[in-house]
Amino acid sequence: SHDFRVGIAGLGTVGASAVRMLVRQDEQLTARLGRRVRVTAVTARDRARERGFDLAALTWFDDPVALARSGDIDCFVELIGGEDGPALEAVTAALETGKHVVTANKALLARHGVTLAALAEKKGVSLAFEASVAGGIPVIKTLREALGGNSVSRVYGILNGTCNYILSRMEAEGLSFDDCLKDAQRLGYAEADPTFDVGGFDTAHKLAILTSLAFGTEIDAEAIYVEGISSISPIDIRMADELGYRIKLLGVAERTKTGIEQRVHPTMVPKSSAIAQVMGVTNAVTIDADAVREVTLVGPGAGGDATASAVVADICDLAAGGAVPAFGVPVGALRKPERAAMRMH
Ligand code: NDP
Ligand code: HSE
Repeated sequence: SHDFRVGIAGLGTVGASAVRMLVRQDEQLTARLGRRVRVTAVTARDRARERGFDLAALTWFDDPVALARSGDIDCFVELIGGEDGPALEAVTAALETGKHVVTANKALLARHGVTLAALAEKKGVSLAFEASVAGGIPVIKTLREALGGNSVSRVYGILNGTCNYILSRMEAEGLSFDDCLKDAQRLGYAEADPTFDVGGFDTAHKLAILTSLAFGTEIDAEAIYVEGISSISPIDIRMADELGYRIKLLGVAERTKTGIEQRVHPTMVPKSSAIAQVMGVTNAVTIDADAVREVTLVGPGAGGDATASAVVADICDLAAGGAVPAFGVPVGALRKPERAAMRMH
């Protein structure tokens, strides 16, 4: 059948990684989906910037809204960032003109997610955002699909890679807060404005999305108590260490007698606990629910490739039109297994 044509807006850390991943996996994805996923059009600010792939074969747009409205794409991928401005305008334009949207933009979703989802519903298209929470960890689909039959009582975890990276390196190497933040920025983990990371707001945006999925409620970002890590000093970390604790920035949403409580703040966790072992850019999300009791997902919370992994998965879901074959590819396309010669010890 015909190609699935993708337009990508934003070719920074995540956007450029997503393009490279789609090119790299082209053959495998085509076999899996029975159709080709092809990036046909892109936009960013600076057309001349080197991005690690060839722009020549792609249609360049100067304006994200023009790309979003283009009749030559089936799916619009928003990787610009920002809760308003070009990201909101372009996502709205794409949905209005009947395109599926994939985004990693948790700030946009925390503020406009419900409105955008309503627009997508009205137009009969999808709004997909696996990459928006905890980078490469498949937590959106886990909550919405795999655990969909449960009643969730609590969801919590380490949801910001930049903060966990900073706290980990401050502890392990005694580095200053500012030096750690600079490294996180250099590695592509931090937000364009890192205040969102260290101030706890990025964790709050992600928590707002998880809360909605976990409890079936409208997003209520204003209700979140937010405290970041900006005021954590090496002395705090050392004192916690001497007492047998580690400081982690946690986002917590739980069902209480009076309603759903949502909070983000640095927390002292015992060094022996599972969550204390989560170091560096790694994130972890724990879901407490009636049937499964407890499920924890751990993985890379930020970075180009890890986040692109989730973006590409969403694109593939949409290309498959919701009808994913039971074993991932049409049964006729499954290869004959090659058995490894086993060495028993
Ligand atoms: P970057 O800053 O690396 O990239 C942003 C891209 O958007 C750049 O290519 C930039 O162009 C382009 N851009 C900015 N303004 C415009 C505009 N007006 N018109 C067209 N293009 C524009 O950001 P990231 O890749 O790190 O993040 C992208 C999104 O993904 C954000 O929403 C972020 O929160 C989210 N995210 C990021 C993760 C990460 O680990 N980095 C993880 C999970 C989510 P140019 O290159 O020319 O400057
Ligand atoms: N700035 C974010 C973080 C990117 O550090 O976790 C991933 O959403």
